[in-house]
Amino acid sequence: MADVVLITGASEGIGRATAFTFARGGYRLALAARTAETLKQTAIDLEQSLNAEVLAVPTDVTQPEQVQNLVERTLERYGRIDCLINNAGICMSGPFLQTTPEHWQALMAVNFWGYLHTIRAVLPDMLKRKKGQIINVGSIGGKMPLPQMSAYCASKYAVSGLTEALRLELQPQGIQVIGVHPGIVSSNFLKRAIFLDEVRPASSPDSQAQTSGGKAREQMQQALESFWVSQPEEVAEAIWDAARQSKSEVVVGMAQWAVGAYTLFPGWVGSLLQNVPR
Ligand SMILES: NC(=O)c1ccc[n+]([C@@H]2O[C@H](COP(=O)([O-])OP(=O)(O)OC[C@H]3O[C@@H](n4cnc5c(N)ncnc54)[C@H](OP(=O)(O)O)[C@@H]3O)[C@@H](O)[C@H]2O)c1
Repeated sequence: MADVVLITGASEGIGRATAFTFARGGYRLALAARTAETLKQTAIDLEQSLNAEVLAVPTDVTQPEQVQNLVERTLERYGRIDCLINNAGICMSGPFLQTTPEHWQALMAVNFWGYLHTIRAVLPDMLKRKKGQIINVGSIGGKMPLPQMSAYCASKYAVSGLTEALRLELQPQGIQVIGVHPGIVSSNFLKRAIFLDEVRPASSPDSQAQTSGGKAREQMQQALESFWVSQPEEVAEAIWDAARQSKSEVVVGMAQWAVGAYTLFPGWVGSLLQNVPR
């Protein structure tokens, strides 16, 4: 029987591209995202274009009981999960003092706790079979600091720490834990990001008043038009290669140069980042 991959954040961007890549590689798919319509459309596109076997389960990864249901339904349908790809994530940018504890909680709930809930739910089955892969999609922001992105970087550094520590713990039990770190990717991720206005007071994460963030959004838009940008399909290929070749960690595309430079010369790169005009 073909291997089974479970992908979160699978309805758009990197997750959707990864679903197509794994389907082409012969995997059976379990896909999760919150919005039922876009998730269903992704499943239909995969079935129609690649004749893929797809289970689509609308799931909010911040809710452990919904994640448990996702994993139980996947195991009922396919009998096993060979590969978990933790990918669902959100982005936020803004000065530290404008970023309220509620903003931090909202971000960590998806970017960190979402990963934790899925790992906790799939691991008992993988441990029983002494086999499996857990691929955590991190970020360049989990390998080097990015200005005005303390909350996002903290969430992605947490993912890096989780990935590396879990790798040591689970490797002897037959389970590979892999980190894949994209740079800037052309998806709706940055369009959907919360940009906290630098001057207006923060109140709640949903407040329209503080999310206009004109300048920061403009800079992100410029970044999206730069030569640094990867396409979701490039990240999907990197995830596929990492899985097939059992790599521990991959930094995708041009981001590897930035991370390499920061690793070698943290002070110098830090001062360059500090002087980015805002
Ligand atoms: N794009 C970039 O520049 C970039 C750079 C570095 C790292 N990354 C990382 O790559 C991953 C994917 O990014 P992307 O660019 O593909 O983002 P995207 O295009 O915005 O897609 C995000 C996906 O996650 C889902 N999602 C969001 N919140 C969720 C939740 N609470 N529960 C379940 N699903 C949820 C979304 O669907 P619903 O909204 O319907 O739930 C969607 O399917 C993220 O972890 C991100 O941090 C992205």
